[in-house]
Amino acid sequence: MAKVHQFDALVIGAGGAGLMAALYATKGGANVAVISKLYPTRSHTGTAQGGIGAALGNLEEDRPLWHAYDTVKGGDYLADQNAAMVLASEAVEAVIELEHMGLPFDRTDDGKISQRRFGGHTSNFGEKPVRRACHAADRTGHMILQTLYQQCIKHNVTFFDEFQVVDTIMNQGACVGVVALQMGTGEMHVFHSKATLFATGGWGRVWSVTSNAHSLTGDGAAAVYRRGVPLQDLEFYQFHPTGIYKMGILITEGVRGEGGVLINGRGERFMEKYAPRIKDLASRDVVSRAIYLELREGNGIKGKDYVYLDVTPNTVNKYLAEAGETRRITESDVEKKLPDILDFCRVYLGVDPVKQPMPIQPTAHYAMGGIPTNIDGQVVTDANWTVLPGMYAAGEVACVSCHGANRLGTNSLVDLVVFGRRGGKHMAEYVKHADFIPLPANPAGEVEAEMSRIRNSSGKTKPYELRQAMQKTMMEKVGVFREAKGIEAAIEEVREMKMRYQNDLVIDDKGSKWNTDLLEAWELGCLLDLAEITAISALNRKESRGAHSREDFKERDDVNWQVHTLIKNCAPAPYAKGIYDPEVNVDKKVDMSLAAEDEKFVPKVRAY
Ligand code: FUM
Repeated sequence: MAKVHQFDALVIGAGGAGLMAALYATKGGANVAVISKLYPTRSHTGTAQGGIGAALGNLEEDRPLWHAYDTVKGGDYLADQNAAMVLASEAVEAVIELEHMGLPFDRTDDGKISQRRFGGHTSNFGEKPVRRACHAADRTGHMILQTLYQQCIKHNVTFFDEFQVVDTIMNQGACVGVVALQMGTGEMHVFHSKATLFATGGWGRVWSVTSNAHSLTGDGAAAVYRRGVPLQDLEFYQFHPTGIYKMGILITEGVRGEGGVLINGRGERFMEKYAPRIKDLASRDVVSRAIYLELREGNGIKGKDYVYLDVTPNTVNKYLAEAGETRRITESDVEKKLPDILDFCRVYLGVDPVKQPMPIQPTAHYAMGGIPTNIDGQVVTDANWTVLPGMYAAGEVACVSCHGANRLGTNSLVDLVVFGRRGGKHMAEYVKHADFIPLPANPAGEVEAEMSRIRNSSGKTKPYELRQAMQKTMMEKVGVFREAKGIEAAIEEVREMKMRYQNDLVIDDKGSKWNTDLLEAWELGCLLDLAEITAISALNRKESRGAHSREDFKERDDVNWQVHTLIKNCAPAPYAKGIYDPEVNVDKKVDMSLAAEDEKFVPKVRAY
């Protein structure tokens, strides 16, 4: 029998969004528990490097409205514009709040928070790049995570660390809690709540080259999808242009913010061709596509499938001089501002970025889509914005949708703190008036049966074999560029893998304690579900927009496709055997309320 716990509010995941939500729900008077499969300070927020965007205007004039405009334009006009405006305006207060909590931001000479350039961030509606990314060297996410965790401890938030949430509990049309497996013992626990906020992050592990940690397996998204909650805009998955070649480890866009440039095998600064005005600081979709196009033309370094990112002072200063800028950089600036990426390159590649260019390739980085929410983090289930009582989401797993079809760098950290805080505040109010809805009978039963099936399966296929096959298929067929034939093949291949997962799996460890073999196999099930519905969503959208670049539908089509995709599970039960076509719906219109107020927001042009 699973042990039962009861809390007003649960937060699933202990990254930036989860910690901010837990902090605010607790401060609002709720009895809150955070359930996390990792020790909190190991959460993936800790890998965010270059900065958090906020129009503080510490180094040059800036305004939240310009930040909102860049967010909408960078998102290729699929962002809900009210959400983008909330993101940009509340970013300012959120960053100052983090500073007051003790976050050690880098400073300007006069003691203000230092800011750097980042792709797609401009002043005066696209006029010129602006310094908007507030940074703590290239460890900004790490600092946010440490700061928020300390605040949660100070406010006595309860933590269940190394508990893996494996199912969502629904009753009477509401979310009433979750089931979690305690990793150290193998025991199942039922958490009963009035409100549950999912902040479980993304699913970059669907692809073979990714900046995401091994833990980013989409557990939260899969757990709610299986219980009938639709997911939104899954076709928009961002490839960050600069991952370490073959390894995918992130090399922050802050490198280009400090003046770094992309160079092809012919020694050319090729972004001049693709984005003549802002060049290497164009938005990520534009830069990733440019790199792929260069590689296709045989312009990789030594004919291989990578290009260089060059932040050596000689190169940077040459281009700064050419651009008429007076600023110059030195080796010690690079050492001071980008210490982590220097370490990564020195350790993993034997390359010293102050003296040599770094070999890079695009890396699967960020899900723009996810669990649909309103601006208070409440999960919504249809085009009428119908709220699902008791369920919330924030951070990467959520789709609010402030990022639209392509997220700007630094806006993920903004999203975490702004919408995590909003979700936490809303939950605190909600639980004051809501009653506990009873748990259904045997709430852990279905997932226990699934775990037991995986543990006792006696087929021939090891989880890693399926994982590698899925990652290869998705990288090749549902990556930066896609077209119908490839996507259809990917769906077929992933479905065949799902059948093997159901009928031919085997794991080695049959025990209970710290059975990571079992948990990785369970996570693979989540990844396979997300791979399948990402591909189906991509096949359905017959246009190119942001991170979704269809070679057979090359143009953006605002007349027919300025809508969000909602994809819904149609299987009769969460772990039903067999393959079931999901329902795909495109009735949810993009909120264009700013476009109506200000003609600068009207989607006249393709980004850059
Ligand atoms: O390039 C970076 O530092 C990544 C930041 C982000 O994804 O926002």
